[in-house]
Amino acid sequence: MRLGLTDAYRQAIAATRELVIFDAVEADPSKETLLAAADAGRAAEVASVVGFGGGSPMDVAKLASYLLGSGDDLDSIWGVGVATGKRLPLVLVPTTAGTGSEATPISVITCQGGVKLAVNSPPLIADWAVLDATLTLGLPRSVTAATGIDAIVHAVEAYTSARLKNPLSDALAREALRLLSTNLLTAIEQPANAEARSAMLLGAHLAGLAFSNAPVAGVHALAYPLGGLHHLPHGLTNALMLRHVLQHNLEAAREHYADLAEIIDPDCSRQGSQARAALLIERLDRLAQESGLALRLRDHGIAFDEAPQLAKEAMKQTRLLVNNPCEISEADAQRLYEAAW
Ligand SMILES: [Fe+2]
Repeated sequence: MRLGLTDAYRQAIAATRELVIFDAVEADPSKETLLAAADAGRAAEVASVVGFGGGSPMDVAKLASYLLGSGDDLDSIWGVGVATGKRLPLVLVPTTAGTGSEATPISVITCQGGVKLAVNSPPLIADWAVLDATLTLGLPRSVTAATGIDAIVHAVEAYTSARLKNPLSDALAREALRLLSTNLLTAIEQPANAEARSAMLLGAHLAGLAFSNAPVAGVHALAYPLGGLHHLPHGLTNALMLRHVLQHNLEAAREHYADLAEIIDPDCSRQGSQARAALLIERLDRLAQESGLALRLRDHGIAFDEAPQLAKEAMKQTRLLVNNPCEISEADAQRLYEAAW
C-alpha cells in the first residue's frame, strides 16, 4: 500500500464497485488475522475477494473467501480435501515471484505455538491469477533471492514427489526450473530488468501449478519449524535446508535429480546419473550462495542445541514428509539441522 503498488488496481475496482481494504496481514499469517479478515468481509457483506501481495496476503484471501462463501468453521476444514464448500469469487495478484500461491489450492496459517496448519482443497484455487511483472520491479535483493529459491524448491520437490508425480507436473516443474534458474541472478543483480522479472513470475507460477499436482516434501517439512519458531521468511528457511535435504535424498532421487541437472547444465548429459545428480545439488547450492543469502542456521540466531526440538517439530509435517523420495526419521532430521547449522 505504502509503495503505491495497489493504486492502479484500487482505482480500476473502485470505478465499478465499492472496495473494502484489509491490509493487516503479517508474514506467516496467524489464525487471528485470517478470522479478522473474514470478519471484515462479513461486516461489509463483500461479494468477491482480491488477494494482493506475497504468499501471506494471498493465503489469507483464499481462505477468507472460502470462509465467507461456505460459512464453514475453520477448525473443521484443516487438511487435504476436507473443504468442499463454495467460496466467493477470487482474484489473486502476486507481488513476489516465489510462493506460487496464486496457482495452488493451499493456504498455510500459523496457529497456537507456531504450528503451521494448512487447508489444501480444490475450492481454494482462484478464478483468476494476474501475473503482472511490473509489480515485482525493484523488489529488494534479499526478497528476490529468498522467494526465488522457494520457487526453485517447489519445482525440484514436485519433480521428485513420491506420491503424485505425473507427466503434467513433470513438464511444469522442468519449465519452471529452466525459467527460474536462468533468471534468478539477473533479477537479483538488475532489480528493474523486466524480462528477468517476467520470467521469474511465470517460473514461480508454473512451479506452483507443478506442486499443486505433485506436492512438496522434505525441504519444506524441515523449513517450516524454522519459520514457525524463529519467524524467518519462508523462502529463506527453504534455502537453509535445501542442500542438506537434497543430499539426504540423493540415492533415492538420483535419476530425477540427474534429469533436472541437464536443465541447469545441458553439457552434463554425457555423465552418469550419479555425477549429474551430485551436479544438480552443487549447482543449486552455488545459486543459493550467489543469491547473497546467509545459508547457515547460526547466521539467523538459531542455536546448535535447538536441533532436537526442530526435528521433533518437523515430524509433525506428515502431509509433506510422505511426499519425500525417502524416509526422513526424527534422527535424520536432527542430523540435517546440525549439518545446516
Ligand atoms: Fe514454499
